[in-house]
Amino acid sequence: APVVVAIDGPSGSGKSTVSRAVAARLGLSFLDTGAMYRAMTWWMLANDVDVNDPEAVAVACGKPVIVSGTDADGPTITVDGRDVAAPIRGPEVTAHVSAVAAVPAVRVRLVELQRGCARVAERGIVAEGRDMGSVVFPDATVKIFLTASEAARAERRAAELRAKGVDEATIVAMAADLARRDAADSSRATAPLTQAADAVLVDTSALSLEQVIDRITTLVAE
Ligand code: CDP
Repeated sequence: APVVVAIDGPSGSGKSTVSRAVAARLGLSFLDTGAMYRAMTWWMLANDVDVNDPEAVAVACGKPVIVSGTDADGPTITVDGRDVAAPIRGPEVTAHVSAVAAVPAVRVRLVELQRGCARVAERGIVAEGRDMGSVVFPDATVKIFLTASEAARAERRAAELRAKGVDEATIVAMAADLARRDAADSSRATAPLTQAADAVLVDTSALSLEQVIDRITTLVAE
């Protein structure tokens, strides 16, 4: 069977960077499932769906056509044919994505798309998110749960934003939002962020990016 590497963890654990690098090194496809939840949220906001009304979100969530390009060297995401890679990272989407992701109908729809991406991945896939090992790919070849201390995660996120030229006031606001989002993602009823029983825990607080990538590629090769 093709290789599936499931990588889960909270915001700022280094998940996206690590997952993409592992996929590139192993010649596998790469799927950022958070981007799909963000794309769904972006579409809801653009179409005046009340994102705090789970009923309204459930009714609307079948409408947008969300397509993920899974090339590890240049992943893409489109909604109804429009490239949304930039707007889905903005503060508006970030503030509302956890509410949209908590709606069961949204998850049913996106999980189906995620499994479809894995099915067509020629050599296998590295899929990252919150429920890859626990729900979407229960039979994954390797399951990784990435963590880092809260301080390390906040510091990484701030550095990322600073590198993008985001101002300090926004960085502080986004840090508060991140804590709120982690709490929401961990406590929701459907597919909360949890470490799967058979997932390997990797704490990245004191590791370099290279060390984390080495650790995971070694686990996949075993
Ligand atoms: O990159 P960051 O850690 O900020 O978040 P992300 O991976 O882009 O995911 C954004 C949001 O989507 C998360 O806060 C979750 O609410 C949701 N999500 C989810 O519920 N399940 C996934 N498999 C991936 C993301």
